[in-house]
Amino acid sequence: MTLNGSRVSVPQAVNILIVDDNRDSTLALAAILEGPDREILKAYSGEDALKHLLHHDFGVILLDVRMAGMDGYETADVIRSRPKTRDVPIIFLTSYNKEDAQVVRGYAHGAVDYIFKPVIPDVLKSKVNVFLELYRRTEALKTKNAELELAEKELARRVEELARSNAELERFAYVASHDLKEPLRMVTSYTKLLASRYEGKLDQDANDFIAFAVDGASRMEQLIHDLLSYSRAGERNNMSKFVNCEEALNDALENLKTAMDECRATVTHDPLPTVNGDTTQLIQVFQNLIGNGVKFRSDRSPSIHVSARQQGEEWLFCVQDNGIGIEAQYLDRIFVLFQRLHGREEYPGTGIGLAICKKIVETHGGRIWVESEFGKGSTFCFTLPGLARKENVPNKPATSAR
Ligand SMILES: Nc1ncnc2c1ncn2[C@@H]1O[C@H](COP(=O)(O)OP(=O)(O)O)[C@@H](O)[C@H]1O
Ligand SMILES: [Mg+2]
Repeated sequence: MTLNGSRVSVPQAVNILIVDDNRDSTLALAAILEGPDREILKAYSGEDALKHLLHHDFGVILLDVRMAGMDGYETADVIRSRPKTRDVPIIFLTSYNKEDAQVVRGYAHGAVDYIFKPVIPDVLKSKVNVFLELYRRTEALKTKNAELELAEKELARRVEELARSNAELERFAYVASHDLKEPLRMVTSYTKLLASRYEGKLDQDANDFIAFAVDGASRMEQLIHDLLSYSRAGERNNMSKFVNCEEALNDALENLKTAMDECRATVTHDPLPTVNGDTTQLIQVFQNLIGNGVKFRSDRSPSIHVSARQQGEEWLFCVQDNGIGIEAQYLDRIFVLFQRLHGREEYPGTGIGLAICKKIVETHGGRIWVESEFGKGSTFCFTLPGLARKENVPNKPATSAR
């Protein structure tokens, strides 16, 4: 049976070996067993049989017990002692004789059967057919197993390749964004200097051009900053610290203070648990989600609530806002790097924030998704694995508003 791609090949004829030193009896047996799905080979001595076994695989062996030279039992002993042929089923052909039957019972391992002479054709056929069927099924299983093993290896190879190319990409993003920072800082500071030194001394066109350059440079600065954060988001160096999520949330709110004060945003929260993770990264998740809730506000003042509830082994966090909402067809897309639903003029941003959240949450062993009603608000949900049971107590109940 061959392995070609994922196709299981059509069953080949199965070999049957008839071993009997009486040629007439061998011929008679072969005649009984003939069939299109099998190949019958004949051996006239034990030694002859062993030679065949060196070159072919057999579904079953019919072995005459009484033979000149090596008898059936001796031959069977050799067959059983070789790893390659150990499991080939043997049907002993014996005259009705108690002593023979006793010996056959001694072959406890491997498929062994016996049949009395004179042979009854139907009994012989059905016994042989059982073994042939067994052989075919075993072979089919072997092929399937081999195919599965191949597929598994291929999968493992691809996963490894993907991980490698992701790591390379991240390294590239990191190096590129890190190295771009310095020259960009020069462009930004000198264009700013131009703008302040020559304000009012040049014509309107020149002022506009300088303003565009300053704007472009600061956008690029933001982009590089966000890309760097993205490439660092999956780092595991500081994982497995205890992170008090309430403190993480407060740090995030501190960082968002100016933006929140400008539009009089309020943020409330449930008691939040302590989890394992990287403090800076979890602060960033809260900050990005709440920052979006503030940025993508409707004409109402932003009101955001952070909830946490235990679900089995994990915690479910939700950041609910009363902002502009997201249309159903975009709910998955927004977690992809650079995917934004609005123009820069409408809402500033680089489209990296949610991709960072996704990467951080997934590195922590969780999932992230959004539910939203367009025009009414969005709820960003993410899960994080819980701590071991005794540490799994939320911090003391608190609801704060800012
Ligand atoms: N709370 C929200 N309400 C409405 N839309 C949102 C919200 N958060 C994210 N979005 C949409 O998802 C896009 C991607 O978000 P994000 O990755 O944070 O990028 P950015 O904030 O830089 O635009 C946003 O441009 C916006 O269209
Ligand atoms: Mg954002």
